[in-house]
Amino acid sequence: MDLYKDLIRKSRKKKKTIIFPESGDSRVISAVKRILKEKTAEVILIDNGKNSDVTIPDCRELLVIDNNFSSQFAEDYHRIRSAKKKEQKKEQSLKEISDPLTFSCMLLRNNFADGLIAGSVYSTSEVLRNAISIIGTSKNNKTVSSFFLFTFPAGHVHGKKIIAYADCGVVPDPDAEQMSDIALSTAENFRKITGIQPRVAFLSFSTKGSAESGSLDKIIEAVRITKKRAPKMIIDGELQFDAAFVPEVAERKNPNGKIKGDANVFIFPDLNSGNIAYKITERIGGASATGPVLQGLSKPVMDLSRGCSAEDIFNMSLIISNI
Ligand SMILES: CC(C)(COP(=O)(O)OP(=O)(O)OC[C@H]1O[C@@H](n2cnc3c(N)ncnc32)[C@H](O)[C@@H]1OP(=O)(O)O)[C@@H](O)C(=O)NCCC(=O)NCCS
Repeated sequence: MDLYKDLIRKSRKKKKTIIFPESGDSRVISAVKRILKEKTAEVILIDNGKNSDVTIPDCRELLVIDNNFSSQFAEDYHRIRSAKKKEQKKEQSLKEISDPLTFSCMLLRNNFADGLIAGSVYSTSEVLRNAISIIGTSKNNKTVSSFFLFTFPAGHVHGKKIIAYADCGVVPDPDAEQMSDIALSTAENFRKITGIQPRVAFLSFSTKGSAESGSLDKIIEAVRITKKRAPKMIIDGELQFDAAFVPEVAERKNPNGKIKGDANVFIFPDLNSGNIAYKITERIGGASATGPVLQGLSKPVMDLSRGCSAEDIFNMSLIISNI
C-alpha cells in the first residue's frame, strides 16, 4: 500500500476544511496550491493585512483579520484568558486575538473549520499554548502529545512497513497515566491513518523484568493501566526495542508475549528517548518521517517544524484530514 496515495484518495472524499494562519510563508502557499489542485481539502488562509498580495484561485476564503471580525470572538476569548490569567485586561485580549494563530484557534473553536496547521513560522510552544488553552483537550484523553509516522523507501529492508513512535515532541517526562493517554491516542490515530491494527509496545531497557530499576516502575504501571482501559487492544511491555521489533529476539526474550516482534506502535518512556529515537530512525535508518502529529486536543491542530518543506505541509494536511 502506498500510504500517501491512499490518504489523498480518502482526503478527497472527506473534503475537510483546514485553516492556515501563516499565509506570509511561501512554503505554506505552495502547499495550499497543491491541496487545491489535488482537491484534497478546502482551505481558509488567514491574512493579518500585511500580505495583501496573496491571491490563490479556488481558495475557499482568504480571511483578513480586521477588528470587526475578531470582535465577534473577543468576549469568549477574554473569558478564556481571564480564567487563566486573572489580571488580563480587555485591551490585551483584543490585541492578542488579532494575532493570526490565536484568531485561527478561535475560528476552529467556533467550528469554522475541521483543523488547523501552523508552525512553519510560530514556535512549537506558541502553537501548543494557543491550542491547549483555546481548543482544549479531548474528552477521554487529557494529555496533549505527539507521534511520528514512518514509512520506508522502495527497496528498503523494511519495505512496506509503517510504524509510529510517541511521544517525540511534547511531554518531557510523562507519568504512567500520561503514558497511557499517549499510547491510546497514538494507537487510535495509527489505525485511522493506516487502516492497520495497532500493536502497541511500551519500550524500555528491560524486557519483562530482565533488569531492575526504579525508572521501570512508571512503564510497568502504564502497561497495566492501558491494558485495563483497552482490554481488546494488543499491548505489551515493558520491552526492549529488539524484543518488540525482531521476531527471533521476541521468541527468546518474550516467548509468551502478545507482541512477537511485530509491534507497529512504540511508546517511549520520555521525550529524550522518543526524540532521539525518531531522529536516528530517520537519519541512520533511512525512514521517511511525518510529524510531529499532535493529538489529545478536542479538534486537530498540527504543529510543523520550522524547517519543514512544502511537501511536509501537504502531507500534514493529508494526516489532519484522516484523524
Ligand atoms: C506544552 C508546553 C508548551 C506547555 O508549557 P507551559 O505553558 O509552560 O506549561 P504549564 O505547565 O505552565 O501549563 C499550562 C497549562 O497547559 C496545560 N498543559 C501543559 N502541557 C500539557 C499537555 N501536554 N497536555 C495537556 N495539557 C497541558 C497545563 O495543565 C496547564 O493547564 P492549566 O492552566 O489549566 O493549569 C510545553 O510543555 C512545551 O513547550 N512542550 C514542547 C516541548 C518542546 O520543546 N518540544 C519541541 C521538540 S522536542
